[in-house]
Amino acid sequence: MKRITLWVILPVVIIAIFVALTYPGKLTEQDILAGVKDGFIPDPHRGEVVFHLGGCGDCHLNNDSESANFNKLTGGDPLVTPIGAFYPPNITPDLNTGIGNWSDVDFINAMVRGISPEGVHYSPSFPYTAYAKVSFEDLLDIKAYVFSLEGLEVKSPPHDLRFPFKYSILNLPWKMLYLDEPGFEFNTTKSAEWNRGAYLVNGLGHCGSCHTPRNVLFAEQSDQLFAGASPFKDGEKPAPRIAGLAPDEILNGLDEWSGAVSETSSMYLVTQAYSNHASREDLEAIATYLSDFGQ
Ligand code: HEC
Ligand code: HEC
Repeated sequence: MKRITLWVILPVVIIAIFVALTYPGKLTEQDILAGVKDGFIPDPHRGEVVFHLGGCGDCHLNNDSESANFNKLTGGDPLVTPIGAFYPPNITPDLNTGIGNWSDVDFINAMVRGISPEGVHYSPSFPYTAYAKVSFEDLLDIKAYVFSLEGLEVKSPPHDLRFPFKYSILNLPWKMLYLDEPGFEFNTTKSAEWNRGAYLVNGLGHCGSCHTPRNVLFAEQSDQLFAGASPFKDGEKPAPRIAGLAPDEILNGLDEWSGAVSETSSMYLVTQAYSNHASREDLEAIATYLSDFGQ
């Protein structure tokens, strides 16, 4: 029995070491400077809008109305998955328990490379595969907004995962398979509006994280983008197909007052965020992109 275990574990360990040695490292300050316009200064007001379009609060806001930290970014409800529960951590600028001592480089690496300042590989329960498509400027605006909020000392609970998933090194081979190089690829055969929609849907909006079916490794199936998917939690509604809907159906789905999305749906937070924070142009860009998708 022991010998069999060894023969299973040994190749895995060798592959893991190989991967760890060959995987592209973190982005450096130079990489990040090369990705922003000269003279760019992060703006917390712009960042507040981008933060809402990115849905950061959906996972990181404390959701317990009894708690003193209700509606603060001290960490949200656990994301329950078949391999265990992930606790979205405290992302307030507290120096001890939040991200208050993170540099811009630390923050960008977490958001687009899925790696912590200490080198821990995050699990894809944190949708960094989508955020990897977001511009460094938008991300630095989000950081400026988050850092303009109050730092709150709240230690996040550790994730409660089944063996062997507690070992975050397992996220490394997953990232090699499914995490793209950072940046958004502009499609020159389409309009600027279509591309803006593609940027919002695939990047900040991470719409595919609910609307695209996943494979056995929990990765979104790239040949079935926005085709609809079953929910993570029992009892929740499935996310319907949104590729190729009429523009009005898409606009209604993002409009809090249209009644298209029920208040108990996991979509409702997205609908509220886009109703209250997205510009008319951005909503129309999303409708243009998704209605054209797969046509
Ligand atoms: C679907 C839920 C979800 C959304 C949406 C989400 N996060 Fe997270 N986030 C997580 C989880 C879960 C982790 C922990 C991942 C891990 O430890 O493997 C995390 C980790 C982080 C971390 C690392 C914190 C640390 O202490 O290591 C940062 C920073 C972060 N998220 C910022 C953001 C920002 C900014 C946004 C919006 C653009 C966002 N997150 C949206 C779930 C989410
Ligand atoms: C947290 C999961 C989740 C995310 C993220 C999400 N959706 Fe949804 N979406 C759903 C669910 C679930 C429904 C079904 C809601 C209902 O029937 O009440 C839905 C419904 C919709 C509808 C209505 C479809 C119809 O047939 O009426 C549209 C349009 C839509 N979503 C677009 C989007 C867009 C665009 C994004 C990204 C900006 C997005 N969704 C992000 C889960 C999600």
